[in-house]
Amino acid sequence: MKIQSLRGMPDLFPEDLERWHIFESKLSEIFHSFGTHEIRTPLLESTELFSRSVGNSSDIVNKELYSFLDRNEDSISLRPEGSASVIRAIIQKKQEQEKHKLWYQGPMFRYERPQKGRFRQFHQVGVEYLGFEEGISEYELISMVLQINKLIGISDYTIKINHLGDANAKESFCESLVSFLKPHINELHEKDQARLESNPLRVLDSKEKSTQAILEGGPKFQDFISDESKSFLQNLVDAYSNHCDIQIDQSLVRGLDYYTGIVFETISQELGAQDAFLGGGRYDNLSNQLGGKDMHAIGFAIGVERIVELLTAEINKPSLKVGFIITGQQIDKKTYKIANDLRSANNSIVLDTLLSEGSLKSQLRRANKNNCSYAIIIGEDELINDQVIWKDLSEGGEQELLSSKEVIDKYSNL
Ligand code: HAM
Repeated sequence: MKIQSLRGMPDLFPEDLERWHIFESKLSEIFHSFGTHEIRTPLLESTELFSRSVGNSSDIVNKELYSFLDRNEDSISLRPEGSASVIRAIIQKKQEQEKHKLWYQGPMFRYERPQKGRFRQFHQVGVEYLGFEEGISEYELISMVLQINKLIGISDYTIKINHLGDANAKESFCESLVSFLKPHINELHEKDQARLESNPLRVLDSKEKSTQAILEGGPKFQDFISDESKSFLQNLVDAYSNHCDIQIDQSLVRGLDYYTGIVFETISQELGAQDAFLGGGRYDNLSNQLGGKDMHAIGFAIGVERIVELLTAEINKPSLKVGFIITGQQIDKKTYKIANDLRSANNSIVLDTLLSEGSLKSQLRRANKNNCSYAIIIGEDELINDQVIWKDLSEGGEQELLSSKEVIDKYSNL
Protein backbone atom coordinates (compact mmCIF):
# COMPACT_ATOMS: atom_id res chain seq x y z
CA MET A 1 0.00 0.00 0.00
CA LYS A 2 1.18 3.50 -0.79
CA ILE A 3 2.01 5.71 2.16
CA GLN A 4 -0.18 8.79 2.48
CA SER A 5 0.45 12.06 4.28
CA LEU A 6 -1.22 12.35 7.68
CA ARG A 7 -4.81 13.60 7.70
CA GLY A 8 -4.98 17.40 7.89
CA MET A 9 -1.29 17.76 7.02
CA PRO A 10 -1.21 18.65 3.34
CA ASP A 11 1.82 18.94 1.10
CA LEU A 12 2.43 22.33 -0.45
CA PHE A 13 3.46 22.18 -4.08
CA PRO A 14 5.17 24.92 -6.12
CA GLU A 15 1.83 26.00 -7.62
CA ASP A 16 0.32 26.38 -4.12
CA LEU A 17 3.31 28.32 -2.87
CA GLU A 18 3.19 31.06 -5.52
CA ARG A 19 0.64 32.95 -3.43
CA TRP A 20 2.55 32.25 -0.22
CA HIS A 21 5.63 33.87 -1.67
CA ILE A 22 3.75 37.04 -2.62
CA PHE A 23 2.27 37.17 0.87
CA GLU A 24 5.68 36.66 2.48
CA SER A 25 7.38 39.29 0.37
CA LYS A 26 4.68 41.92 1.06
CA LEU A 27 4.79 41.06 4.72
CA SER A 28 8.53 41.47 5.00
CA GLU A 29 8.13 45.04 3.63
CA ILE A 30 5.57 45.76 6.33
CA PHE A 31 7.58 44.25 9.17
CA HIS A 32 10.58 46.23 8.03
CA SER A 33 8.63 49.49 7.96
CA PHE A 34 7.27 48.87 11.48
CA GLY A 35 10.72 48.05 12.83
CA THR A 36 9.87 44.50 13.95
CA HIS A 37 12.51 41.76 14.08
CA GLU A 38 12.25 38.04 13.49
CA ILE A 39 12.48 35.44 16.26
CA ARG A 40 12.61 31.66 15.72
CA THR A 41 11.67 29.26 18.48
CA PRO A 42 11.59 25.43 18.44
CA LEU A 43 8.68 23.39 17.16
CA LEU A 44 8.77 21.23 20.28
CA GLU A 45 8.34 22.58 23.80
CA SER A 46 7.56 21.10 27.18
CA THR A 47 3.83 20.36 27.43
CA GLU A 48 3.68 22.41 30.62
CA LEU A 49 4.42 25.58 28.63
CA PHE A 50 1.09 25.27 26.85
CA SER A 51 -0.96 24.03 29.80
CA ARG A 52 0.21 27.05 31.81
CA SER A 53 -0.37 29.58 29.02
CA VAL A 54 -3.00 28.60 26.50
CA GLY A 55 -4.73 26.94 29.47
CA ASN A 56 -5.68 23.47 30.64
CA SER A 57 -9.36 24.11 30.07
CA SER A 58 -8.92 25.39 26.50
CA ASP A 59 -9.82 23.09 23.62
CA ILE A 60 -6.30 23.53 22.28
CA VAL A 61 -4.63 21.97 25.34
CA ASN A 62 -7.48 19.72 26.34
CA LYS A 63 -8.13 17.98 23.06
CA GLU A 64 -5.80 19.21 20.37
CA LEU A 65 -2.21 19.02 21.57
CA TYR A 66 0.18 16.65 19.85
CA SER A 67 1.88 15.48 23.05
CA PHE A 68 4.10 12.52 23.70
CA LEU A 69 6.81 11.30 26.03
CA ASP A 70 10.33 11.64 24.70
CA ARG A 71 13.06 9.08 25.36
CA ASN A 72 13.62 10.62 28.76
CA GLU A 73 9.90 10.17 29.62
CA ASP A 74 9.38 13.96 29.60
CA SER A 75 6.07 15.16 28.20
CA ILE A 76 6.71 17.35 25.18
CA SER A 77 4.33 18.86 22.62
CA LEU A 78 4.38 20.19 19.11
CA ARG A 79 3.58 23.88 19.42
CA PRO A 80 -0.08 24.73 18.76
CA GLU A 81 0.68 28.47 18.57
CA GLY A 82 3.64 30.84 18.86
CA SER A 83 3.02 33.39 21.65
CA ALA A 84 3.80 31.10 24.59
CA SER A 85 7.15 30.10 23.08
CA VAL A 86 8.11 33.72 22.42
CA ILE A 87 7.40 34.69 26.04
CA ARG A 88 9.27 31.60 27.28
CA ALA A 89 12.27 32.57 25.15
CA ILE A 90 12.33 36.17 26.44
CA ILE A 91 12.03 35.03 30.06
CA GLN A 92 14.79 32.47 29.50
CA LYS A 93 17.02 35.26 28.14
CA LYS A 94 16.09 37.46 31.14
CA GLN A 95 14.91 40.25 28.87
CA GLU A 96 11.44 40.86 30.30
CA GLN A 97 12.34 44.42 31.17
CA GLU A 98 13.35 45.40 27.67
CA LYS A 99 11.04 46.34 24.83
CA HIS A 100 10.68 43.96 21.90
CA LYS A 101 8.86 44.12 18.59
CA LEU A 102 9.03 40.60 17.20
CA TRP A 103 7.59 38.54 14.39
CA TYR A 104 7.74 34.82 13.64
CA GLN A 105 6.43 32.35 11.17
CA GLY A 106 6.15 28.60 10.83
CA PRO A 107 4.02 25.51 11.22
CA MET A 108 1.70 25.00 14.19
CA PHE A 109 -0.04 21.76 15.15
CA ARG A 110 -3.54 21.17 16.47
CA TYR A 111 -5.40 17.87 16.42
CA GLU A 112 -8.62 19.40 15.12
CA ARG A 113 -11.21 17.85 12.82
CA PRO A 114 -9.86 18.73 9.37
CA GLN A 115 -12.16 20.63 7.02
CA LYS A 116 -11.89 23.49 4.53
CA GLY A 117 -9.57 26.07 6.07
CA ARG A 118 -8.82 23.92 9.12
CA PHE A 119 -5.76 21.73 9.23
CA ARG A 120 -3.75 19.76 11.75
CA GLN A 121 -0.53 21.26 10.52
CA PHE A 122 -1.10 24.86 9.52
CA HIS A 123 1.09 27.95 9.34
CA GLN A 124 1.02 31.19 11.22
CA VAL A 125 2.80 34.47 10.89
CA GLY A 126 2.68 36.20 14.24
CA VAL A 127 3.68 39.54 15.72
CA GLU A 128 4.33 40.16 19.42
CA TYR A 129 4.99 43.57 20.99
CA LEU A 130 6.49 43.08 24.44
CA GLY A 131 7.01 45.72 27.10
CA PHE A 132 4.32 48.13 25.87
CA GLU A 133 1.36 48.86 28.12
CA GLU A 134 -2.17 49.40 26.87
CA GLY A 135 -2.15 52.44 24.61
CA ILE A 136 -0.28 53.19 21.47
CA SER A 137 0.66 49.55 20.78
CA GLU A 138 -3.01 48.59 20.25
CA TYR A 139 -3.23 51.36 17.65
CA GLU A 140 0.00 50.31 16.01
CA LEU A 141 -1.06 46.67 15.71
CA ILE A 142 -4.48 47.50 14.27
CA SER A 143 -2.73 49.81 11.80
CA MET A 144 -0.45 46.94 10.87
CA VAL A 145 -3.47 44.68 10.26
CA LEU A 146 -4.99 47.32 7.94
CA GLN A 147 -1.70 47.74 6.15
CA ILE A 148 -1.31 43.98 5.62
CA ASN A 149 -4.82 43.66 4.21
CA LYS A 150 -4.27 46.64 1.92
CA LEU A 151 -0.96 45.45 0.58
CA ILE A 152 -2.15 41.98 -0.26
CA GLY A 153 -5.42 43.24 -1.68
CA ILE A 154 -8.08 42.22 0.86
CA SER A 155 -10.85 44.82 1.01
CA ASP A 156 -13.86 42.85 2.18
CA TYR A 157 -13.19 42.02 5.83
CA THR A 158 -14.42 42.82 9.34
CA ILE A 159 -12.40 43.37 12.48
CA LYS A 160 -14.29 42.14 15.54
CA ILE A 161 -12.95 43.59 18.75
CA ASN A 162 -13.68 43.39 22.46
CA HIS A 163 -12.15 44.39 25.78
CA LEU A 164 -11.91 41.63 28.39
CA GLY A 165 -10.89 43.96 31.23
CA ASP A 166 -8.21 42.90 33.68
CA ALA A 167 -7.93 39.43 35.24
CA ASN A 168 -10.39 40.36 38.05
CA ALA A 169 -13.01 41.69 35.66
CA LYS A 170 -12.67 38.55 33.56
CA GLU A 171 -13.13 36.38 36.64
CA SER A 172 -16.16 38.28 37.97
CA PHE A 173 -17.78 38.17 34.57
CA CYS A 174 -17.11 34.47 34.35
CA GLU A 175 -18.71 33.83 37.77
CA SER A 176 -21.73 35.88 36.86
CA LEU A 177 -22.06 34.03 33.53
CA VAL A 178 -21.94 30.66 35.28
CA SER A 179 -24.63 31.63 37.82
CA PHE A 180 -26.78 32.97 35.00
CA LEU A 181 -26.41 29.87 32.81
CA LYS A 182 -26.66 27.15 35.49
CA PRO A 183 -30.50 27.35 35.73
CA HIS A 184 -30.64 27.07 31.91
CA ILE A 185 -28.25 24.14 31.70
CA ASN A 186 -30.82 21.72 30.27
CA GLU A 187 -31.75 24.15 27.52
CA LEU A 188 -28.15 24.41 26.35
CA HIS A 189 -26.75 22.33 23.52
CA GLU A 190 -24.75 19.33 24.77
CA LYS A 191 -21.46 20.89 23.65
CA ASP A 192 -22.24 24.09 25.54
CA GLN A 193 -23.16 22.16 28.67
CA ALA A 194 -19.67 20.68 28.61
CA ARG A 195 -18.13 24.10 27.98
CA LEU A 196 -20.01 25.55 30.93
CA GLU A 197 -18.19 23.04 33.10
CA SER A 198 -14.73 23.30 31.55
CA ASN A 199 -14.41 26.81 30.14
CA PRO A 200 -17.56 28.91 30.66
CA LEU A 201 -16.40 31.92 28.62
CA ARG A 202 -16.32 29.75 25.51
CA VAL A 203 -20.11 29.35 25.75
CA LEU A 204 -20.22 32.95 24.49
CA ASP A 205 -18.95 32.01 21.04
CA SER A 206 -21.26 29.05 20.69
CA LYS A 207 -22.66 28.71 17.19
CA GLU A 208 -25.92 27.22 18.56
CA LYS A 209 -28.92 29.52 18.05
CA SER A 210 -30.66 28.25 21.21
CA THR A 211 -27.59 29.07 23.32
CA GLN A 212 -27.27 32.51 21.75
CA ALA A 213 -30.95 33.20 22.50
CA ILE A 214 -30.41 32.40 26.19
CA LEU A 215 -27.26 34.51 26.29
CA GLU A 216 -29.18 37.56 25.14
CA GLY A 217 -30.62 37.92 28.63
CA GLY A 218 -27.27 37.20 30.30
CA PRO A 219 -24.52 39.38 31.75
CA LYS A 220 -22.54 41.58 29.35
CA PHE A 221 -18.78 42.05 29.44
CA GLN A 222 -19.16 45.81 29.24
CA ASP A 223 -20.81 45.84 32.68
CA PHE A 224 -17.73 44.30 34.28
CA ILE A 225 -14.95 46.33 32.79
CA SER A 226 -13.87 49.78 33.99
CA ASP A 227 -15.02 53.01 32.35
CA GLU A 228 -11.43 53.54 31.27
CA SER A 229 -11.38 50.21 29.43
CA LYS A 230 -14.74 50.96 27.85
CA SER A 231 -13.63 54.31 26.51
CA PHE A 232 -10.28 52.88 25.38
CA LEU A 233 -12.18 50.33 23.30
CA GLN A 234 -14.58 52.92 21.90
CA ASN A 235 -11.78 55.34 20.99
CA LEU A 236 -9.87 52.56 19.27
CA VAL A 237 -12.92 51.63 17.21
CA ASP A 238 -13.65 55.28 16.39
CA ALA A 239 -10.09 55.82 15.19
CA TYR A 240 -10.43 53.12 12.53
CA SER A 241 -14.13 53.08 11.67
CA ASN A 242 -13.57 55.37 8.67
CA HIS A 243 -10.87 53.08 7.31
CA CYS A 244 -12.34 49.60 7.71
CA ASP A 245 -15.31 47.67 9.03
CA ILE A 246 -14.49 47.41 12.75
CA GLN A 247 -17.16 46.26 15.20
CA ILE A 248 -17.32 45.72 18.93
CA ASP A 249 -18.38 42.12 19.59
CA GLN A 250 -19.08 41.45 23.24
CA SER A 251 -19.15 37.71 22.73
CA LEU A 252 -15.57 37.66 21.42
CA VAL A 253 -13.47 35.92 24.09
CA ARG A 254 -10.98 33.90 21.96
CA GLY A 255 -10.00 30.30 22.55
CA LEU A 256 -6.79 30.86 24.51
CA ASP A 257 -6.93 31.60 28.23
CA TYR A 258 -4.11 34.09 28.49
CA TYR A 259 -5.90 37.18 27.21
CA THR A 260 -6.86 40.24 29.23
CA GLY A 261 -7.63 43.65 27.73
CA ILE A 262 -8.19 44.13 24.00
CA VAL A 263 -8.88 41.03 21.88
CA PHE A 264 -9.62 41.02 18.16
CA GLU A 265 -10.20 38.82 15.14
CA THR A 266 -10.34 39.58 11.45
CA ILE A 267 -12.90 37.67 9.46
CA SER A 268 -13.94 37.37 5.84
CA GLN A 269 -17.23 35.96 4.54
CA GLU A 270 -15.35 34.57 1.56
CA LEU A 271 -13.71 31.91 3.74
CA GLY A 272 -16.90 30.04 4.70
CA ALA A 273 -17.21 28.43 8.12
CA GLN A 274 -13.57 29.00 9.17
CA ASP A 275 -13.81 32.72 8.58
CA ALA A 276 -11.13 34.09 10.95
CA PHE A 277 -7.84 34.70 9.17
CA LEU A 278 -6.19 36.62 12.00
CA GLY A 279 -6.60 36.72 15.76
CA GLY A 280 -4.87 38.34 18.69
CA GLY A 281 -5.00 40.48 21.78
CA ARG A 282 -3.28 41.61 24.94
CA TYR A 283 -1.90 39.10 27.43
CA ASP A 284 -0.10 41.08 30.15
CA ASN A 285 -0.17 38.26 32.74
CA LEU A 286 1.48 35.53 30.72
CA SER A 287 5.07 36.36 31.66
CA ASN A 288 4.14 36.08 35.37
CA GLN A 289 2.19 32.89 34.79
CA LEU A 290 5.29 31.35 33.23
CA GLY A 291 7.53 32.39 36.11
CA GLY A 292 8.92 35.56 34.52
CA LYS A 293 8.89 39.18 35.66
CA ASP A 294 6.00 41.50 34.82
CA MET A 295 5.91 42.14 31.10
CA HIS A 296 3.22 43.79 29.02
CA ALA A 297 2.43 41.88 25.87
CA ILE A 298 0.14 42.16 22.88
CA GLY A 299 0.16 40.50 19.50
CA PHE A 300 -1.68 38.69 16.77
CA ALA A 301 -1.22 35.76 14.44
CA ILE A 302 -2.33 35.30 10.85
CA GLY A 303 -3.47 31.92 9.53
CA VAL A 304 -1.42 31.71 6.35
CA GLU A 305 -3.53 29.02 4.60
CA ARG A 306 -6.57 31.25 5.11
CA ILE A 307 -5.10 34.62 4.18
CA VAL A 308 -3.54 33.39 0.94
CA GLU A 309 -7.03 32.28 -0.15
CA LEU A 310 -8.02 35.95 -0.03
CA LEU A 311 -4.94 37.39 -1.66
CA THR A 312 -5.72 39.36 -4.80
CA ALA A 313 -2.42 41.22 -5.10
CA GLU A 314 -0.97 40.67 -8.51
CA ILE A 315 0.80 37.38 -8.94
CA ASN A 316 4.38 38.26 -9.83
CA LYS A 317 5.14 38.36 -13.51
CA PRO A 318 6.83 35.11 -14.51
CA SER A 319 10.59 35.53 -14.75
CA LEU A 320 12.23 35.61 -18.11
CA LYS A 321 13.57 32.17 -19.03
CA VAL A 322 16.53 31.30 -21.21
CA GLY A 323 17.15 27.74 -22.31
CA PHE A 324 20.75 26.51 -22.02
CA ILE A 325 21.32 23.87 -24.64
CA ILE A 326 24.45 21.81 -24.99
CA THR A 327 24.78 19.52 -27.94
CA GLY A 328 27.20 16.88 -28.99
CA GLN A 329 29.19 16.52 -25.79
CA GLN A 330 28.89 16.00 -22.09
CA ILE A 331 28.41 19.01 -19.89
CA ASP A 332 31.97 19.83 -18.88
CA LYS A 333 33.94 22.39 -16.90
CA LYS A 334 33.82 24.97 -19.68
CA THR A 335 30.08 24.81 -20.26
CA TYR A 336 29.46 24.96 -16.53
CA LYS A 337 31.62 28.08 -16.34
CA ILE A 338 29.52 29.74 -19.03
CA ALA A 339 26.33 28.92 -17.12
CA ASN A 340 27.81 30.22 -13.86
CA ASP A 341 29.00 33.45 -15.50
CA LEU A 342 25.56 34.02 -17.00
CA ARG A 343 23.83 33.50 -13.66
CA SER A 344 26.20 35.90 -11.92
CA ALA A 345 25.63 38.48 -14.66
CA ASN A 346 21.83 38.52 -14.20
CA ASN A 347 20.22 36.38 -11.55
CA SER A 348 16.69 37.63 -12.24
CA ILE A 349 16.59 35.36 -15.31
CA VAL A 350 15.84 31.66 -15.02
CA LEU A 351 18.64 29.86 -16.86
CA ASP A 352 16.87 26.61 -17.65
CA THR A 353 19.53 23.93 -17.90
CA LEU A 354 17.13 21.11 -17.15
CA LEU A 355 16.45 20.40 -20.79
CA SER A 356 16.30 16.86 -22.05
CA GLU A 357 19.40 15.25 -23.32
CA GLY A 358 19.13 14.40 -26.96
CA SER A 359 19.13 16.16 -30.29
CA LEU A 360 19.19 19.92 -30.69
CA LYS A 361 15.67 19.71 -32.08
CA SER A 362 14.24 17.91 -29.07
CA GLN A 363 16.00 20.28 -26.68
CA LEU A 364 14.60 23.30 -28.55
CA ARG A 365 11.15 21.75 -28.38
CA ARG A 366 11.60 21.38 -24.64
CA ALA A 367 12.79 24.99 -24.30
CA ASN A 368 9.64 26.19 -26.08
CA LYS A 369 7.47 24.01 -23.90
CA ASN A 370 9.13 25.48 -20.79
CA ASN A 371 8.29 29.00 -22.05
CA CYS A 372 11.87 30.04 -22.70
CA SER A 373 12.16 33.32 -24.63
CA TYR A 374 15.69 32.68 -25.84
CA ALA A 375 18.07 29.76 -26.14
CA ILE A 376 21.81 29.69 -25.80
CA ILE A 377 23.18 26.82 -27.83
CA ILE A 378 26.66 25.43 -27.39
CA GLY A 379 27.88 22.77 -29.78
CA GLU A 380 31.36 21.28 -30.11
CA ASP A 381 32.53 23.91 -32.66
CA GLU A 382 31.29 26.78 -30.53
CA LEU A 383 33.04 25.37 -27.49
CA ILE A 384 36.36 25.21 -29.33
CA ASN A 385 35.95 28.76 -30.67
CA ASP A 386 34.75 30.18 -27.37
CA GLN A 387 31.44 31.16 -28.91
CA VAL A 388 27.73 30.42 -28.44
CA ILE A 389 24.62 30.60 -30.60
CA TRP A 390 22.04 33.05 -29.34
CA LYS A 391 18.56 32.17 -30.58
CA ASP A 392 15.43 34.25 -30.21
CA LEU A 393 12.64 31.70 -29.70
CA SER A 394 9.77 34.01 -30.63
CA GLU A 395 8.13 33.38 -33.97
CA GLY A 396 10.44 34.42 -36.79
CA GLY A 397 13.18 35.09 -34.22
CA GLU A 398 16.75 35.32 -35.51
CA GLN A 399 19.86 33.63 -34.31
CA GLU A 400 23.40 34.97 -34.08
CA LEU A 401 26.85 33.81 -33.17
CA LEU A 402 28.29 35.59 -30.12
CA SER A 403 31.61 35.47 -28.35
CA SER A 404 31.50 34.40 -24.69
CA LYS A 405 32.00 38.04 -23.69
CA GLU A 406 29.21 39.29 -25.97
CA VAL A 407 26.73 36.76 -24.65
CA ILE A 408 27.37 37.88 -21.07
CA ASP A 409 26.73 41.51 -22.06
CA LYS A 410 23.54 40.61 -23.87
CA TYR A 411 22.34 38.43 -20.99
CA SER A 412 23.01 41.04 -18.33
CA ASN A 413 20.99 43.63 -20.29
CA LEU A 414 17.91 41.48 -20.98
P1 HAM B 1 -5.55 31.73 17.17
O1 HAM B 1 -6.79 32.56 16.98
O2 HAM B 1 -5.70 30.45 17.86
O3 HAM B 1 -4.54 32.67 17.94
O4 HAM B 1 -4.87 31.50 15.77
C1 HAM B 1 -4.60 32.58 14.88
C2 HAM B 1 -5.04 32.23 13.47
O5 HAM B 1 -4.47 30.99 13.08
C3 HAM B 1 -6.55 32.01 13.32
O6 HAM B 1 -7.23 33.23 13.14
C4 HAM B 1 -6.60 31.18 12.07
O7 HAM B 1 -6.53 32.00 10.92
C5 HAM B 1 -5.32 30.35 12.14
N1 HAM B 1 -5.63 28.98 12.58
C6 HAM B 1 -5.84 28.53 13.84
N2 HAM B 1 -6.09 27.21 13.85
C7 HAM B 1 -6.03 26.80 12.57
C8 HAM B 1 -6.18 25.53 11.92
N3 HAM B 1 -6.43 24.40 12.60
N4 HAM B 1 -6.04 25.48 10.56
C9 HAM B 1 -5.77 26.61 9.85
N5 HAM B 1 -5.62 27.82 10.42
C10 HAM B 1 -5.73 27.92 11.75
C11 HAM B 1 -3.28 32.30 18.30
O8 HAM B 1 -2.74 31.30 17.93
C12 HAM B 1 -2.58 33.35 19.16
N6 HAM B 1 -1.24 32.84 19.49
C13 HAM B 1 -2.51 34.68 18.42
C14 HAM B 1 -1.81 35.73 19.23
C15 HAM B 1 -0.55 36.18 19.02
N7 HAM B 1 -2.32 36.38 20.26
C16 HAM B 1 -1.41 37.21 20.74
N8 HAM B 1 -0.34 37.09 19.99
